[in-house]
Amino acid sequence: MALNTAFHPNALYYGDCLEVINGGADSADRWPDACVDLIYLDPPFNSKRNYNVFFDKQSDLLRSSRAQARAFEDTWYWDEEAKARVERLRRAAHMPKETIEGLYLIHGNTDAMSYLSYMAERLAALRRILKPTGSLYLHCDPTMSHSLKLLLDGVFGKDNFRNEIVWSYGLGGSSKRMFSKKHDILLFYSKGSRWTFNKPLVPATSNMLKGQMKGAASVWDIPTINNMAKERVGYPTQKPLALLERIIKASSNAGDIVLDPFCGCGTAVAAAQKLGRKWIGIDISSFAVEQVMARRLGRHDQEIKLLGIPEDYAACVKMTQSDPLSRFKFERWAINKIPGMVPNIKQTGDGGIDGEGYLLTEPVEHTRKVIAQVKSGNTTADQIRAFCHVIREQKAAAGVFITLKPISDNRTLKKNKTELGTFRLKGASSDTYPRLQAWSMKEYFDDRRRNLPNLPPLADPFTGKELPQPTLWDTPKTSG
Ligand SMILES: C[S@@+](CC[C@H](N)C(=O)[O-])C[C@H]1O[C@@H](n2cnc3c(N)ncnc32)[C@H](O)[C@@H]1O
Repeated sequence: MALNTAFHPNALYYGDCLEVINGGADSADRWPDACVDLIYLDPPFNSKRNYNVFFDKQSDLLRSSRAQARAFEDTWYWDEEAKARVERLRRAAHMPKETIEGLYLIHGNTDAMSYLSYMAERLAALRRILKPTGSLYLHCDPTMSHSLKLLLDGVFGKDNFRNEIVWSYGLGGSSKRMFSKKHDILLFYSKGSRWTFNKPLVPATSNMLKGQMKGAASVWDIPTINNMAKERVGYPTQKPLALLERIIKASSNAGDIVLDPFCGCGTAVAAAQKLGRKWIGIDISSFAVEQVMARRLGRHDQEIKLLGIPEDYAACVKMTQSDPLSRFKFERWAINKIPGMVPNIKQTGDGGIDGEGYLLTEPVEHTRKVIAQVKSGNTTADQIRAFCHVIREQKAAAGVFITLKPISDNRTLKKNKTELGTFRLKGASSDTYPRLQAWSMKEYFDDRRRNLPNLPPLADPFTGKELPQPTLWDTPKTSG
């Protein structure tokens, strides 16, 4: 990995949690054994849902799009990568052979096995960094909870299973053919035979004990976040603070380190901060880490580190010269720098589109779509022409061609810009914007991270509405 991702409490990391914890290619960044007290993880559930509420509603636009821009995708496939992963796990010292063999016997070459093997690698890494008195809570739903419990029995040892907690959240879809689904599952394991536990007390509900407090049962009635809730930040899978506060109070003490390796908009981090714990959050989406988390934590005196993200132009160059994963990570990060734009989750076969967003206001011609392509190497005239072809084909209002350094072939750029013309928005304003825009990381960093493409506002990818205010780390300014 080209960037510093070494262990640091009160830090947010951008990256795959497995890569961050194990230090990727850079063993100096590998986190030490037994360094955290509590782990809460709310990973993708294999729900087959793709989280990008607003884009999903733009079905007409999506149908014409070959790209798969998604905030994150919760769908797993059995492919060559999954096959290699299962083979790796069959030989791994940290995993009882029977666990993987047993799960493979049940699931075979399926999408579910792909998901379980993905989780197996990450759960084993998480167990390694847990202190001997530490605990782990895996948040999942009934889609995979039965198989994940078997997997956790294998990774932690079945004697270390503590509770299966039912989070009863009230709301939920109804069905004519089965019972309504109104709960999630939390699987609670300790690392060893001694673990931190501060039994939480909740108001008694039975008439006999009315007005008294009693120990929380393993069924928790905590309402899910409603549309009007103050704590709502708009992240599609946001969990309630009350749920995380109960877990953190029960299984850690003040000053302990709480890790959420799939932190999303940072509910666990915000709860840990509130309760006087140290915390660490990791997410594979830089949008989650940079934009939403900053809004969640707000401004305060404590030093917060943001790791795994290029801090200057030299770090960008280093990332693009590293392994393909770092390059892909760089591309996703660069796309996320344009507020409202979401990276394509596919590394290849994206039809020339690395990210897309939608204008908040409809343009006079074309669609509301704005696409982007990232080129980390030298740029050729053919590449610029090919991108213009994709802009036309997609009927996009505009396309942003993102490079490391400014494009040197000014003639080609100018010619294609002129041919593609400009767009303007419906309504009073007569402002026009070039349909082809070139934007480089060099310009971005040289202008102290304020230089951005010249675009009207894009919609928030989760809500379709106006984007919230700029974040703690970046205060972008549109350059002409
Ligand atoms: C269900 S959401 C977590 C929501 C979170 N509990 C909250 O309250 O906001 C799952 C998160 O895992 C992230 N993710 C998926 N794969 C990941 C990986 N390999 N490493 C780190 N984060 C990952 C996704 O980007 C997403 O934000």
